[in-house]
Order: sequence, then C-alpha cells, then structure tokens
Amino acid sequence: MTAPVIVRAPAKVNVQLAVGGLRPDGFHDLANVFLAVGLYDEVTATPADRLRITASGPDADQVPLDEGNLAARAALALARRYGLAADVHLHIAKDIPVAGGMAGGSADAAAALLACDTLWGTGASRAELLDICAELGSDVPFSLVGGAALGRGRGELLEPVETGGTFHWVFAVADGGLATPAVYRECDRLREASGQGFTAAELPDPEPSAALLAALRTGDASALAGAVSNDLQAAALSLRPALADTLRAGTQAGAMAALVSGSGPTCAFLASDENAAKVVADALISSGTCRTARTTSAPAPGATVVG
Ligand code: C5P
Repeated sequence: MTAPVIVRAPAKVNVQLAVGGLRPDGFHDLANVFLAVGLYDEVTATPADRLRITASGPDADQVPLDEGNLAARAALALARRYGLAADVHLHIAKDIPVAGGMAGGSADAAAALLACDTLWGTGASRAELLDICAELGSDVPFSLVGGAALGRGRGELLEPVETGGTFHWVFAVADGGLATPAVYRECDRLREASGQGFTAAELPDPEPSAALLAALRTGDASALAGAVSNDLQAAALSLRPALADTLRAGTQAGAMAALVSGSGPTCAFLASDENAAKVVADALISSGTCRTARTTSAPAPGATVVG
C-alpha cells in the first residue's frame, strides 16, 4: 500500500493590503504584501476508493467536507490535468482560524495540491502547480510559496519580497468568521458612499509601499509597524464594530502595530520580541475581546512535505 503523504502549509497576514477599484470580472486589483506566519494546517493524503475529506481541530465543525472544500477542488484540478481519478482521502488537521482572514482555506488547497502531487507522482513543475493554485483562489499561490511576497493582479501574480530577521506576531481569533466577498462589497459600498468612486476606472492603481518593503528587507520591526496598512480594515470594522475593542486592547498592551488580518475578523499585532508578544496575547485573552490569542513568528516557509 502507498504510504500517506503529509504536507504542512502556513497562515498569512497581509502587512500591506492596498485595494484598487472593482474590476469588471468582480475582483479588485491589489498591491498585496503577504507574510507567511508560523500557524499551520496539515493535510494528509491517503489513497482511497473515492475523494473523501475529513477534518480535525477546534474549528473542524466549520470546515465543509464536500467538493466545495478548496482542498477537494485542488485534488480534482490536479487529477483532471493529469487524467487521473481523484481517489484520495484528504484529512485536514486545522489549526488556522476558519474564515479568519488568514488564508486557512488557501493553505489547505496548497497543501492538498502538493500532497496529491507527491502521492500520485505527477511530476508537475512548480509553474504548473502555481497555475493550478491561481485557478483555485487569489491567495493559494502564496500559500504554496510562503515567506514574503508581493501579490499583484487579484493577488495571484507573485513577486518575491526579501526579509531580514524574524518578526513576532500575535493573532486575536474572533468568534465566527467573515466572508471575504462580503468584506470587499462593504469596502466598495463605503468608497461609493464617501464619493470617491469604487470601480477600477475611478480609482488609482494600488501600489506597494517602499517604506514597508524596506522594513521587511532590513528586519526593522518598528519601521514595519509604522508602515503596515489594510484597505479592508474599515470594511471589516463596519461589519464587525467590536473588532475596534480588540485592536485597542492589543495596542494598550504594548503592541507596536494593530491591524485586521486580510478580510478579518482575526486581528494581527506586531510585537517587539517573543516576550512582548506573550504579554500582548495574555492581555488580549483577559480583555474578553476575542475567543483566543496566539503568538507566532514570521516569515514561515510555504507548503512543505513533512511526512
Ligand atoms: O480568489 P478568491 O476565491 O479567494 O476570492 C474570493 C472573493 O473575494 C472573490 O469572489 C471576490 O468577491 C473577492 N476578491 C476580490 N478581489 C480580490 C480577491 C478576492 O474582490 N483581489
């Protein structure tokens, strides 16, 4: 019998999420600076008589177990491309918050793709795998690559970003998720209401921040703290006003920067070192403004075969 393949893939935080106007295809052009962080989902692929998905972990009950699951779609896309049957059992050990703005579903897709590719010995090139990732979702290519990267287009066109040193983060996990399309819609609505327009024709192209890229390159946490930005934050706060209390609690506990992670509702806090991160996490937990808080560091590697 073929041995199972185990792949681990990281969560991400967007240290810059510059959102352009709504495109005719329903997506937004982005200047999206991804940073992979050390929270991981693990996908185990085992040969089976049909495609089957199971999940474990604290949020497992929120993971879809049908073909709507991005991991299932990854297996099907790879099988289709190579004329194979997607007869595989994918077990997802979930640690990344579900619908939390940390690309947990994308991590599962990248992990499943790499696991099935290894299990089936397709010999797909990195470029082919990235191509399939881009079909699956805007954040999936980054989950495969990890580290730090600038995502252009809808986020799928990646350019590597250099990082020097380790950044310490705290993530405040909220009760319940936010649907990414709803947050983008709210961003459009707020922009339209403010009179600035919301379409790609009306708004300037989003650009990466040179100060932010320099801070990542030099490993300067204070400079990074001064440069982080998220254009979806106002929309996430509009849909979930209580997140303002979470951001405030982390800032009061000494976080150097506080921002919503991607489309939220997870909040991300940059800390000066590991100890400061623990202080912020403890304060967030006792503040009662989040379900839990996790400390971790970045950058983390992309999807990796671990067994
Ligand atoms: O690509 P993905 O499936 O992750 O996108 C989910 C949804 O998020 C899209 O259907 C769209 O509503 C929104 N989105 C967007 N612009 C992007 C990425 C995502 O509007 N660049």
